Amino acid sequence: MKSAKRTIQYGAILLIALVLMTARSNSITEPTPVPATATPAPAALEIISTSPLTYALSAPQTDGAVSVERALNNRRSQRDFRDQALTHGQLSQLLWAAYGVTSQQGMSERRTSPSAGALYPLEIFAVVGDVTDIEPGVYRYVPNGHRIVRIVEGDMREALSQSVHVVNQDTVAIAPVSICYSAVYERTTEVYTVRGDVYVHMEVGHSAQNVYLQATAMELGTVAIGTFSNRGAMHEMMNLQADEIPLYLMPVGYLAGDFVLR
Ligand SMILES: Cc1cc2nc3c(=O)[nH]c(=O)nc-3n(C[C@H](O)[C@H](O)[C@H](O)COP(=O)(O)O)c2cc1C
Repeated sequence: MKSAKRTIQYGAILLIALVLMTARSNSITEPTPVPATATPAPAALEIISTSPLTYALSAPQTDGAVSVERALNNRRSQRDFRDQALTHGQLSQLLWAAYGVTSQQGMSERRTSPSAGALYPLEIFAVVGDVTDIEPGVYRYVPNGHRIVRIVEGDMREALSQSVHVVNQDTVAIAPVSICYSAVYERTTEVYTVRGDVYVHMEVGHSAQNVYLQATAMELGTVAIGTFSNRGAMHEMMNLQADEIPLYLMPVGYLAGDFVLR
């Protein structure tokens, strides 16, 4: 009898907590509308501007031969790459997996990665050294329209490698491309205040895992590097805005050894 009474009391407390949490989250999760100007990606790579150099990446594949379970089972951090170019199609696929737009709902868009309040605080860059038909340089990824815009000219892999811990420098210098993440925290903290910083860090993990799985499915390797020796140098090299903080760097390439999916 006593225990039944206690169960009812616990149930009532749980219900009140749930109601309060729902009310609170409803009051703070209203997403800021994103302008709806979704532009479909072209079938093939297109240069759509020369100043700044802007490529519309080819449309990504939204289906593939490797199951998500198989990609998960084969995912591993890889640090030893061959000096071999990636195709622009592979780069397109990796960037789409990281943060690509997957639907447009009225005034707001949704992407491959979840984001608190659909605020999308991450900025993604491709440091291109050796990718077919794409000039070397540092590019900012523009999810809407699936484009990359060059912000720094030239092969910056060696310079980029100096901004990470010495154990990862060769990896970054050799990989044909590195995907780099920064975050504009304010986009999220404006709405979620103190919890916003934590959300941003959760979100970079979501997106990086997408890159890991997509790379694995294409029999490519990558590693999420979070240990910087000189975050300031990366900030400067990528010409980041004052409020952008570099978070992760993911070199991607063919493995030096064979990569046979199990
Ligand atoms: C937040 C975070 C930071 C990491 N930073 C680095 C790094 O700076 N350099 C590196 O080589 N690996 C880094 N890694 C990769 C881990 O070393 C790797 O995930 C771990 O050894 C487990 O191996 P696995 O990814 O192959 O399962 C990082 C992983 C995470 C999640």
